Amino acid sequence: MTQQPHELVWTLTTAGFAARCVHVVADLGVADRIDDSPVPAAELASACGVDADALGRVMSLLAAHGIFDHRDGTFGHTASSRLLRSDHPMTMRPFLQMMGLPIIWGSITELGHSVRTGRPSLEVLEPQGLWAHLQGHPSDGEIFGRAMTAKAGAEGAAVVDAFDFRPYRTITDIGGGRGHLLRAVLDVAPDTEGILFDLPEVIDSLDVEHPRMRAIAGDFFKDALPAADAYVLMEVLHDWPERECVEILAAIRRAAHQNSTLLVVEGVLPEDHNDPRAATLDLIMLTVTGGRERTASQMSGLFEQAGFRLDRVTDTASPMRIVEGSPV
Ligand SMILES: C[S@@+](CC[C@H](N)C(=O)[O-])C[C@H]1O[C@@H](n2cnc3c(N)ncnc32)[C@H](O)[C@@H]1O
Repeated sequence: MTQQPHELVWTLTTAGFAARCVHVVADLGVADRIDDSPVPAAELASACGVDADALGRVMSLLAAHGIFDHRDGTFGHTASSRLLRSDHPMTMRPFLQMMGLPIIWGSITELGHSVRTGRPSLEVLEPQGLWAHLQGHPSDGEIFGRAMTAKAGAEGAAVVDAFDFRPYRTITDIGGGRGHLLRAVLDVAPDTEGILFDLPEVIDSLDVEHPRMRAIAGDFFKDALPAADAYVLMEVLHDWPERECVEILAAIRRAAHQNSTLLVVEGVLPEDHNDPRAATLDLIMLTVTGGRERTASQMSGLFEQAGFRLDRVTDTASPMRIVEGSPV
């Protein structure tokens, strides 16, 4: 239903409260304390060691938005609140915790800095930027890593369903995090070897192995990248402004052979930019990393500057799209 003008403005102006409620509830692990039967607010509060009245009010706001079912002083699950459970196969809890981290939420609070300067507002809190922050704050790095891994449930599966990775003998996942996408790819491509390339602190914290995956620690701005038949870059380019994107793609071009394939996996903005989800992610990138979401034509421009041509954009059943390129 379309909101009245006053309601729309009021709702957007105060939307940060709902977001904070989700972060707090995710941090406390409230959803893990509700199984199939609804639980009284006081019982949830006592299990979490927090104030019953305040938690009940937080939960009521979430229930008013359809996250949790509130009746007779108890809270039960809805399909959305089940995604906050740690054991849900498509759990969003680590993502919510990451969005609630003081370094991330604080950057969004400082949005005005980005608007004034065009630079990531995270630099107000951490002049060295996100990656240095995660390196210096291992518990934030752990939450960030888990948030990226949690995407494997929905987005990784959608990507491997939408694209045939089997023809490639070697696939290198550049900035592949903990290798969740690469492992999903290797599971459907039995003759493929995988190489995971990421920063040393990420590679050092890897806890999951795959018999056909090896990991290389390095910096894509400084170190030579391994040769491969296909290069995957999932949600890496959107972390960076244009110049750095071209540097990353050019480093891949130097390592690639003439028949290698470039696979950029991320959301692709509609050409008219009229998509609230993509526009929100675009602002997260502006404030947190200084990157941006891009249209297919913007991607094509990056590809061209680095010696690739954009061949095809493949939709997946998730917001991820696969932008395929080949060396010119
Ligand atoms: C947004 S995360 C995406 C991770 C993974 N591809 C995914 O989609 O879940 C960006 C990744 O780029 C890595 N990264 C950042 N700077 C890097 C650099 N200079 N060299 C190599 N990897 C880097 C980060 O460590 C992180 O794993």
